[in-house]
Amino acid sequence: MKRTDWFTEARFGLFLHWGLYAIPGRGEWTYAMDKWEPGVYENLIHQFDPQDYDPAEWAHLAKAAGMKYVVFTTRHHDGFCLFDSHYTDYKITNTPYGKDVTRMLADAFRAEGLKVGFYHSLPDWTHPGYRDPESPEFYQTGQVPPLDPADHKAYQDLLYHHIEQLMTEYGKIDILFLDYTSQHKANEDYFDRERILEMVYRLQPDIIVNDRLSYFKDNVRDFDYYTPEICIPNQQQQVKGKEVPWETCTTMNNHWGYCPTDEAYKTLHTLTSGLIGCVSKNGNLLLNVGPEPSGKFPPMAVSRLKDLADWYRINGEAVFGCGRSDYTAPYGCIYTQKGQTIYCYLLVDPMGDLILPQIKGKIQKITLLRTGADCALVDHWGFELLRPDEQRIRTAGALAGDVLKIELK
Ligand code: GLC
Repeated sequence: MKRTDWFTEARFGLFLHWGLYAIPGRGEWTYAMDKWEPGVYENLIHQFDPQDYDPAEWAHLAKAAGMKYVVFTTRHHDGFCLFDSHYTDYKITNTPYGKDVTRMLADAFRAEGLKVGFYHSLPDWTHPGYRDPESPEFYQTGQVPPLDPADHKAYQDLLYHHIEQLMTEYGKIDILFLDYTSQHKANEDYFDRERILEMVYRLQPDIIVNDRLSYFKDNVRDFDYYTPEICIPNQQQQVKGKEVPWETCTTMNNHWGYCPTDEAYKTLHTLTSGLIGCVSKNGNLLLNVGPEPSGKFPPMAVSRLKDLADWYRINGEAVFGCGRSDYTAPYGCIYTQKGQTIYCYLLVDPMGDLILPQIKGKIQKITLLRTGADCALVDHWGFELLRPDEQRIRTAGALAGDVLKIELK
């Protein structure tokens, strides 16, 4: 058993970006990008009061959609802690709401049987010991202030102690998603990586940790999994010549944090094809929702999650426990596979029959999952020149977004 086995079986998770930035509603980078007057953003702490927060409802929506785990922003780059930090007053328990939303979330998702992951930002834009060209000072002045080594050490200690608290006081944590992707920190060990990782694995021996503690990938220690972002890679991810577990995270519209004016939600078809696309390359999809300041999910996000639930109820067997297929998919389709069963996801409405490469003589049964109808094998047709291993089939009314289950002999 590998620590990542449950993760590579799960294939689908929920990402949540929530924090003070939900109030202005311009995404989680607003504090850096929008030239706030001093203290104004920080004062949002006196407004954060998500009276409608019901993490059991979030967990329920996620589970129905087929998601098996959650990754929650315990702190983003703005430094505001969504957990009851022992080390700063800039935290959720000092808002009018007053309750530790991270603890409530972990309890609620565990109760639904989902695994619990904590996102924690490596940068903290409010700390003098963290300096970086992608920070509020830089966007305001064009300068990065100098870094005092003592402040930097204090920052490394704060980061360490925050993670230590999260690894100690919130029960079993299944995933740690540390985040910073900038190339500006590519060539230095800015966060004292080995000290953090030693502590994390000591406190949570079964946890899996992502790759973002260091930008540079090939000359460092191995990470438990790798995290491309908002794209479907063309192949199974490899590091140092070896295949590695991986997960693409993606937004549901074009923002991670809540943004009410961004209505560019991805279609159900984009989401299901993206999920299948990841699975077909042995990867996972971590799909984001940016909750409202009220504590509710935006209505469009709820609608997509419910549509995903309808799709997953029928087609989820093409996702859970599946991976790359040994066979080449026909035109307009993606394959996933589990044992002797191939799942054929249709990217487009078929123009007629499908021609399946490589499996003539090996097919036991083909079913359209949505209707349960069998697909007929077409042995004598007209004029196309088929290779000896190609099998033409009827699609039984399959449409884009459907899955054909191909059971092999
Ligand atoms: C990007 C964003 C960051 C977000 C992350 C999620 O790097 O800049 O705000 O948290 O993606 O992976």
